[in-house]
Amino acid sequence: MPFLGCPGRRLWAIFGKRCGESCRIGFRCPPGQGNTKEACRIGTCDARTAAGLPEAALSKSGLYGRAAKVTCAHFSLPDRKEGTEMMVLETVNLEMDGPVATIYLNRPAKKNAMNPQMHRDMNQALDTIEAAGNIKAVVVTGVGDSFSAGMDLEECFLQPFDDPQLFYRTNLVALNWFKRLKAFPAVTIAKVNGFAFGGGLLVTGLCDLAVTSETALFGLSEINFGIFPAGGATWAATHNLPRKQALYYILTGDTMTGQQAQEYGLVNKAVPADQLDAETDRIVRKIVKKNPITLELAKQVYERTTTMDLPTAIDYDQAKLWELSRLSGNEWVNVALKQFEKRAYQPGLSTYDRAEAKS
Ligand code: ACO
Repeated sequence: MPFLGCPGRRLWAIFGKRCGESCRIGFRCPPGQGNTKEACRIGTCDARTAAGLPEAALSKSGLYGRAAKVTCAHFSLPDRKEGTEMMVLETVNLEMDGPVATIYLNRPAKKNAMNPQMHRDMNQALDTIEAAGNIKAVVVTGVGDSFSAGMDLEECFLQPFDDPQLFYRTNLVALNWFKRLKAFPAVTIAKVNGFAFGGGLLVTGLCDLAVTSETALFGLSEINFGIFPAGGATWAATHNLPRKQALYYILTGDTMTGQQAQEYGLVNKAVPADQLDAETDRIVRKIVKKNPITLELAKQVYERTTTMDLPTAIDYDQAKLWELSRLSGNEWVNVALKQFEKRAYQPGLSTYDRAEAKS
């Protein structure tokens, strides 16, 4: 009974190699909490959904509640190296590979529309990343041909609408993780692989960085069903697009391509679809070389100083600089600038080597 000793309700998996028709899935508890990979291998993936995605119906489903039905990620996600950890929730997969976490929105048959379950799963994924404590970069992307078609119009709006309390509580869970994502300590990167409507555009705008495929389609379609973009979507538009473009897309509901999204500044870069992974990896590789404390405080200084005048901003950033020095054991002086003194690197062109750093 491999799972009985698992203290957490979370279901973790180590995915091995892509194995075609018969896809064995190995699960284990979080590191150091008991089960070995071999002991926990309980599922065999042999069924396929109408969308072509194989699913694993796990034999011990009663033990693990809603995580029991698992979409096999082998067929829809790239191969991952041995040792990568995967938390499989009902609508979200979380992959943790050293300092990099990747969140996969996983309702491809519904274009990754965010239903109440996905909002709960997103909160759980963010909890898990925060608890891990070592994550520097969080990539958010979608399974299938969509990033996210936004809020699930039926499950979030239509169905609970007649019960004000239910409607409020349902959507509060969404608003909660939107706010958390915006203020997340690690660097957040939207990898927009397809449709990004309403909440999908919102999530893109909330992330610190964004990469998209040129052919992805963005839109604030709320006006097309009679409301304005809410839940932070207007905020995302005003903070990521020039005024005329923001108002154009808010008022017309027209779509913009990934290429246009880059032109207007909603994303850092639009690339051909087959280069999306590589371009995202390129950015991630740069981020993970940096000191995580510096990354976190750099984000804070950016966000807070946007609303300050210069003297206030200088006072604030000076205080934060001393906080950074203290929290990082003066790494910038003791390690980075010492390496510069030895001409070990050129800061204009590359970063220092953190191998000898303590934080
Ligand atoms: N809410 C609920 N279900 C959705 C949503 C959504 N936001 N988006 C797609 N779906 C469902 C479709 O209804 C369909 O379900 P069905 O198979 O039960 O009929 C399924 O996902 C597949 O969608 P299709 O429309 O068949 O896919 P297609 O590729 O033709 O179109 C598109 C994709 C353009 C994204 C279209 O689904 C669409 O317009 N979706 C709504 C987008 C939207 O308005 N989002 C904003 C929501 S509001 C907000 O986020 C604040």
